[in-house]
Amino acid sequence: MKNTELIEKLYGGGSLTLDEYTCLIAEHDESDCELLYQYADEVRNRWYGHDVYLRGLVEFSSCCKNDCYYCGLRKSNKKAKRYRLTKEQILECCHEGYELGYRTFVLQSGEDDFYTDEKICDIVSSIKREIDGCAITLSIGEKSYESYKAYFDAGADRYLLRHETADFEHYSKLHPPSLSAKRRQQCLYDLMDIGYQVGTGFMVGSPFQTAWNLAQDMIFLRTLKPHMVGIGPFIAHSDTPFASFDSGTTELTVFMIALIRLTLPKANIPATTALATIDPRGREKGICAGANVCMPNLSPLDIRKKYMLYDEKVCTGDESAQCRACLQRRLESVGFKPVVSIGDCACWNESNA
Ligand code: 5AD
Ligand code: FES
Repeated sequence: MKNTELIEKLYGGGSLTLDEYTCLIAEHDESDCELLYQYADEVRNRWYGHDVYLRGLVEFSSCCKNDCYYCGLRKSNKKAKRYRLTKEQILECCHEGYELGYRTFVLQSGEDDFYTDEKICDIVSSIKREIDGCAITLSIGEKSYESYKAYFDAGADRYLLRHETADFEHYSKLHPPSLSAKRRQQCLYDLMDIGYQVGTGFMVGSPFQTAWNLAQDMIFLRTLKPHMVGIGPFIAHSDTPFASFDSGTTELTVFMIALIRLTLPKANIPATTALATIDPRGREKGICAGANVCMPNLSPLDIRKKYMLYDEKVCTGDESAQCRACLQRRLESVGFKPVVSIGDCACWNESNA
């Protein structure tokens, strides 16, 4: 089948095979992209209109016990600056975010055992108690079923855990032997089972990645059916083993965003900070190709530069309020409206109506 036929098929609700995804990802021209973006825009509009949900991100700890080869927070990076926010500091970020209009808070950190289950539950339930009607997303890595369940019972609504790559062999090239794709994916199924709104995702252009790997990511997404999919380009961090690898491109990342929009029409899809980092208009391009979420930073200014997953990360020098205003301008410049409602995924609203 020709690329345009494959795109038509996806748009019409059909599904592509692994080989079809691979062909489309490996080889597409400008007119394929144009068609794909037009359809992705249309499908996003069908479920979300021109609303872009904003979620306030609090990066509460830069300590990590893992050693992923791509990540600036890996434990072997002795140059990384480490910090931990107290419960009070985290609550303060959320209150400040509330004043700026945010109603969803994403608490993200490295895998840091300092924050025991008890501490996490206490933080989650305190935010829920103090801030009426907010949603809490956790993004704190791989945990046991029991831990995930405890956070959920404490009030966590959503969980983000990128699968990073669906291919087991590729996964083992990006991670030390202590981490496995199988375990990672099991965590995602556990989270779905418990009843979270689940977000997963992957990096585009990570070292050793092939078009076939990205096609596998698409099949994995179709199988898991997450409520949210966050993707961004791989960006080299100079103090990691992958320092000299090329970064992913805007073009391929935006192409994958649009493919995800057609594959999971109702999913929440963020235009990520990594995309904004490799391209000053990256976030806007992502939104125009089917994304519908932005996650500006609410972390205290003095620690922002310490949460360096990759080099040159943007939005590390702007106060939360500036970031909010900047994002508003950017979204409005391409005809979109930032909204701060809870912003459940469209399929979640239906199944829980
Ligand atoms: N480039 C791009 N994204 C990265 N992440 C970690 N390191 C990098 C990097 N060097 C992403 C991973 C992780 C998320 C929190 O950040 O996908 O899941
Ligand atoms: Fe953060 Fe522009 S969105 S400064």
